[in-house]
Amino acid sequence: MTIHFIGAGPGAPDLLTLRGRDLIAACPVCLYAGSLVPEALLEYCPTNARIINTAPLSLDEIIDEMRRANAAGQDVARLHSGDLSVWSAMGEQLRRLRALNIPYAVTPGVPSFAAVAATLAQELTLPGVAQSVVLTRTPGRASAMPDGETLANFARTGATLAIHLSIHHLERVVEELIPYYGGDCPVAIVWRASWPDERVVRGRLSTVASRVDDSLQRTALIVVGPVLASETFDDSCLYALGYDRRFRPQSADSPFAGTAPGREEREGDEKA
Ligand SMILES: C[S@@+](CC[C@H](N)C(=O)[O-])C[C@H]1O[C@@H](n2cnc3c(N)ncnc32)[C@H](O)[C@@H]1O
Repeated sequence: MTIHFIGAGPGAPDLLTLRGRDLIAACPVCLYAGSLVPEALLEYCPTNARIINTAPLSLDEIIDEMRRANAAGQDVARLHSGDLSVWSAMGEQLRRLRALNIPYAVTPGVPSFAAVAATLAQELTLPGVAQSVVLTRTPGRASAMPDGETLANFARTGATLAIHLSIHHLERVVEELIPYYGGDCPVAIVWRASWPDERVVRGRLSTVASRVDDSLQRTALIVVGPVLASETFDDSCLYALGYDRRFRPQSADSPFAGTAPGREEREGDEKA
């Protein structure tokens, strides 16, 4: 018996992994975070599965459901939106399960920042422009930020920022970032990426707040950084003609000579 924590993806039901889908189909109990997990995924549950929306439950009540399933020898599919590695509340559930000696496993999902980047058709790390993406948020009613994790500190790096859980603080976000990125820095806000009603607002730090109205609440990600408007970035070395690398040694003296696996095969494929 195992509690399977499954990343349910950003919203579109077909952005669930195959492993996640198969686990949902194999578990007689499904606990899902109803505020963000698409209900279409519940169609994969077996007939007669016990399906519980945990949005109105407390942590104790959720753990009680898991204990009951464990005692009955039933596997559980535990669905959280996006991926489980960020803002999923998985950590506190796993800690309780460890204390109770209840086995668990984790299956990743497509995180919202990746879905947002896909909507924008945007690489968030462009050579010479930004090589880091900061996944962050601003403080909320229930979640203070640790000292040092301020927007200003992240902004000093010039990295691309993916700011979650903060659309209701947009004006404050903009105010804190302008001193570092400048008012002209591009911003994109994607609301409900991959859902049928997805919306995108693009602008500059100095203008974006005036383009967002109250209809864009809650499930939105704010992306900030020069990558969003850069066409003059460098090419990467990865495909550069003269770059000596394992898959493309440049001479017989190259440390990579003779190490490229399946080269003849690949060349044959290319010609085919
Ligand atoms: C509680 S966090 C969950 C994050 C999730 N575990 C992930 O992997 O992205 C919820 C926040 O994630 C972002 N988010 C989640 N799904 C989104 C989507 N489909 N489009 C845009 N932002 C999304 C929003 O910032 C939202 O406030």
